Amino acid sequence: MAEPHRVLSPFADGPVLAIETSCDETSAAVVQGLSVRSNVVASQADLHRKWGGVVPEAAARAHVEAIVPVIDEALAAAGVCLEDIRAVAVTNRPGLVGALSVGVTAAKGLAFARQIPLIGVHHLEGHILSPLAEFPDLDFPHVCLLVSGGHTEVIEVAAPGRYQILGSTRDDAAGEAFDKGARLLGLGYPGGKAIQDAAETGRPGRYRLPRALKGEGSFDMSFSGLKTAVLRLVESEQDRIDVPGAAAELQAAIVDVLMDRGVRAVESAGVAALTLVGGVAANRSLRERLAVEAERRGWRFYTPSLSMCTDNAAMIGIAGSLRLGAGERSGFDLDTLANDDLPR
Ligand code: KG4
Ligand code: ZN
Repeated sequence: MAEPHRVLSPFADGPVLAIETSCDETSAAVVQGLSVRSNVVASQADLHRKWGGVVPEAAARAHVEAIVPVIDEALAAAGVCLEDIRAVAVTNRPGLVGALSVGVTAAKGLAFARQIPLIGVHHLEGHILSPLAEFPDLDFPHVCLLVSGGHTEVIEVAAPGRYQILGSTRDDAAGEAFDKGARLLGLGYPGGKAIQDAAETGRPGRYRLPRALKGEGSFDMSFSGLKTAVLRLVESEQDRIDVPGAAAELQAAIVDVLMDRGVRAVESAGVAALTLVGGVAANRSLRERLAVEAERRGWRFYTPSLSMCTDNAAMIGIAGSLRLGAGERSGFDLDTLANDDLPR
C-alpha cells in the first residue's frame, strides 16, 4: 500500500461486498468503512470430514454450489441490494487455486456488471487486520500471532500494509498439529475444537510431548515432531491410552510454543500490543493464557470473536476496504496464486 497506510483510511464511497473461497469455507460479507454489516459463512467441514481433510477438487465444486446463495444471504442480512454495492473485495491468494478461482470469478463478474472497483486481497492480510472490525483503535505497531490450519506466523505489523515476518513454522501449521493429533487420537475432524473439548477433562503432563525449538533464539516453530510423538504414544499405549490426558498434553505442547514465540516477539520488537488471529486463535487455553500474560506484562491484547478468527469474508472486506481507501485497484486480469508473500 502507498503512503496512506500511516493513517487508517478505509473506502468511503459506500458498502463493499467481500468474498472468501480460499479453502473450505464459502463466505460473503458486506463491510462499510471498517464496520461489518453482514458476514455469512457456509462451512464445508461436513463434506471433508469423511476424508479427514480438505479435498481441493471437492472444495472448488462446493464453492460453485454455494457462492451465489451465500452472496445473496450476505446482501440480505446487511439490508442492501447489489445496486448499493460500491466495490468488490476478494481473496485471490494464497490458497487452493481451484477454490480461489470460484470467488475471484464471481467477484469479477459482479464488478464488471456493476462497473465498480475490484480489489484482490491476500488471505493472511485479512487475518492480520481482522481485529479492526471489533477494535478500530487497535494499536500500531503491534505483533500478530497468526495461527491457522495452513499458516503459523509471527509478524510485526507496523501499520496496515506494512508487515515483517519474524518467524514461521518450518513444517506443519499449528492447526495441522491439532488436526493430525486429533485424527490419531480418534477425535475426528476438524481437530482443534475436538482436542480442546477432550482436554477439558484431561491433565497435561501425564504423557510428555515435545516443545520443538523452544529456547532457541529464533521465532521459528516446528510442529511435525508432535504428530510422530502422538503416533508413538498411540502405538505404545494402545487401548490403555488416556485420550483426555493425551489431548491436554498435545494442546499444552502447542500452546506453550505459541506463547513462547508471541511473548518473546513482543518484547524483542519493543511494542506493547499483541493480536491473536486465525482459526487456532479460537482455542480457549491459548486465548486465556495470552490474556493473562499480556495483563501481567502491561501490554494490550486483542483477539477477535470466534467467527472472525476462522476463515470469513468480513476480514477480507476490512483489508480490501483499507487497500481501496489507499487508492488501490485490481484489473480484470486479477489472477489466483497458491502461494504469495505478504505485501510489504
Ligand atoms: O483460519 P482457519 O479457519 O483456516 C485456515 O486458513 O487454515 O483455521 C482452521 C484451523 C483448523 O486446523 C482447526 O483445527 C483450528 O483452526 N481450530 C482450532 C480451534 N478451532 C479451530 N484449533 C484449536 N482450538 C480450537 N478451538
Ligand atoms: Zn485462514
